[in-house]
Amino acid sequence: MTLLTINKLTSSVGAEVTGLDPGRLAGDDALGTAVLDALEDNGVLVFPGLHLEPEVQVEFCRRLGEIDFSSDGHHRVAGIYPVTLDKSKNSSAAYLRATFDWHIDGCTPTGDDYPQMATVLSAKQVAESGGETEFASSYAAYDALTDAEKQRFASLRVVHSLEASQRRVNPDPSPEELARWRARPTHEHPLVWTHRTGRKSLVLGASADYIVGMDPEEGRALLSELLDRATTADKVYSHHWAVGDTVIWDNRGVLHRAARYDENSPREMLRTTVLGDEPIQ
Ligand code: OGA
Ligand code: MN
Repeated sequence: MTLLTINKLTSSVGAEVTGLDPGRLAGDDALGTAVLDALEDNGVLVFPGLHLEPEVQVEFCRRLGEIDFSSDGHHRVAGIYPVTLDKSKNSSAAYLRATFDWHIDGCTPTGDDYPQMATVLSAKQVAESGGETEFASSYAAYDALTDAEKQRFASLRVVHSLEASQRRVNPDPSPEELARWRARPTHEHPLVWTHRTGRKSLVLGASADYIVGMDPEEGRALLSELLDRATTADKVYSHHWAVGDTVIWDNRGVLHRAARYDENSPREMLRTTVLGDEPIQ
């Protein structure tokens, strides 16, 4: 029996899943496996109008893997983090302006944790204009390289930091802000991630600061060129949110960003993060 009805949204990333009964989400192991398989195949799954209760979202995510509780304290339900620029809804909202740049969640964890495998967002309030979430495949980004580039990039390593991603949206930090950013350890990752499945992807985005052993400016120019090539409009799925939509993306193979929206917007997404069990290697 087919558990999910899946329709691809673009040729490289994203699929819409319909016919799902939210009541079954939390209690059905087979459904969890079907979602994980569909996620591996499509990178992003869109569930229109599910209207999940936050508790059900967390229960559903438990079917997909270990939940990240490290950002708890901003919502009454454990495992839920409100993604909003409204400081009255989330006291750490200022950091979230960095979601306006292409990135991969979990490249700069607080410890040695593996990168977050999947991120789930449900729309509680949407922006009046802008605020779409955009996605591009980082597997496709690798596949589109020339053979010479694949060879040249195979041994490159990149240092990622919270400071790099925050500086892009806050180029003139106060000493206190800078100290907070720098308290988060930097992480060195290969440019090319060879996954357990054998697939390869590029590890790019706002947290990528410099390439080890390369002139910093030259390295940054290369990282930004690769990001531009990975995210041209023809390669992007842009999700235009309606209240009640739920979207899951796979940080192993997808870059994402929020399209600009008014910083005073009430836009609020409820996020749950599923931890990975595989290092970037
Ligand atoms: C995130 C994120 C994008 C958005 O929650 O990790 O990048 O559209 N969100 O809010
Ligand atoms: Mn993100």
